[in-house]
Amino acid sequence: MEEKKKLADIGMIGLAVMGENLSLNIERNGFTVAVWNYEAGIVDRFVEGRGKGKKFIATHSIQELVASISRPRKIMMMIRAGAPVDEVIEELLPFLDKGDILIDGGNSNYLDTTRRYEYLKEKGIYFVGSGVSGGEEGALKGPSLMPGGAEEAWPEIKPIFLAIAAKLDDGSPCCDWVGDAGAGHFVKMVHNGIEYGDIQLIAESYQVLKDLTGMDTDELHDTFKKWNQGPLDSYLIEITAAIFTKKDTDGTPLINKILDKAGQKGTGKWAVETALELGNPLTMIAESVFARTLSSLKRERVQASEILKGPAIDFKENKEEFVDAVGKALYAAKIISYTQGFSLFRQTALTYKWKLNYAGIAQMWRGGCIIRSAFLGKIREAYQKNPELENLMLEPYFNEQIHLSQPSWRKVITVAISNGVPVPAMSSALAYYDGYRTASLPANLIQAQRDYFGAHTYERTDKPEGTFFHTDWTGEGGDTSSSTYNA
Ligand code: 6PG
Repeated sequence: MEEKKKLADIGMIGLAVMGENLSLNIERNGFTVAVWNYEAGIVDRFVEGRGKGKKFIATHSIQELVASISRPRKIMMMIRAGAPVDEVIEELLPFLDKGDILIDGGNSNYLDTTRRYEYLKEKGIYFVGSGVSGGEEGALKGPSLMPGGAEEAWPEIKPIFLAIAAKLDDGSPCCDWVGDAGAGHFVKMVHNGIEYGDIQLIAESYQVLKDLTGMDTDELHDTFKKWNQGPLDSYLIEITAAIFTKKDTDGTPLINKILDKAGQKGTGKWAVETALELGNPLTMIAESVFARTLSSLKRERVQASEILKGPAIDFKENKEEFVDAVGKALYAAKIISYTQGFSLFRQTALTYKWKLNYAGIAQMWRGGCIIRSAFLGKIREAYQKNPELENLMLEPYFNEQIHLSQPSWRKVITVAISNGVPVPAMSSALAYYDGYRTASLPANLIQAQRDYFGAHTYERTDKPEGTFFHTDWTGEGGDTSSSTYNA
């Protein structure tokens, strides 16, 4: 009698670096994985190479892939975000049955995920958009996973997701159900915005240390290594220390040969677009995105460096004290970045009526992902104590940390600015801090101007909010005001 072929527990579409490593991770955790890639050669190379002797089923068409998976089918896509996701969905649909589960693990825009979730819901297919973070190593050894979408799918995929996710020291997984529709990809998008912020702050600290204190790569390595043993303990600080030790083939530091033009794949930009759309001040992360775009104007910058004059470097600070201050400035600005990210969550949860678990998100990010850090443990504690916390800076621990770091933060920015060294994210973070703690901002003047030139009306300090007034500022205007609405 012919032996009945064992069906796979899950299917994987896309065997580029992330798909391949995730497949290996899933298999290592005891599951059988059916794999498929557009280019057939890649599937065969994989099962004969890194996948050899393991529980993989090689498939050479979408139909064969679907037929190789046990029901309800769980199929994960690790492919390029955008149109390819829609194309693969259309190719899969004729072969799927009601109740099957489709997971998009790429960096998709959460609005696309919401659209796909609604579209597939009508067809009885459960769609999950999951953030996957941790790069290629994380995918293999344990990523941070942020699934959201059709909640009916969660009990089915949970055993696989919890098994493959990164684990904290107490064994808890860096994965939990985030919410419905596009919530999983939304959380990943904010993660990436914060990733941009962390990276930019580290880059600014590097430039300040290099250009003002004259540190070489050995000293930079020592400094970042030391920082990694304190409150800044995080993956990005750790790899920064390691980067400074890497030598090029000629024995000189590789970092000095890398062109100063930063790339971006778009998720940071989406975070800022979303913040603009929802009216939430994500200023520090916005500066971090724009800092990358400014860096990309390399040719113009080189030209301008010959024409536009600034102050000559005149650094008179005590080096050791100043280096310590840079670490504190980095830390304070980092608190602002996370404050802004979590405020965006709050705003979005209100807008979309999502029940986001902020402590759970901090836990998911505590390990496995690119922004993993000791600091996220503190954020988790803050939201565990008060899930309704309006602004992270108001929580006693972070409040105290900001107060302690503040003199150093102001000092570093002042010294950098007076020497002409750009610190856009660090100073934008401070502007947010000062703006947020200022009871009277000059927005009264903005309102007066708007009413003066366009009869846009204003509210008064001596009347209840929500009542609008218009003044005939010149004696030549009428009583008619423009309609009062806020975009
Ligand atoms: C992660 C990362 C990853 C992201 C890259 C590149 O969590 O593993 O966020 O998903 O795609 O870091 O991002 P940029 O090209 O936009 O810098």
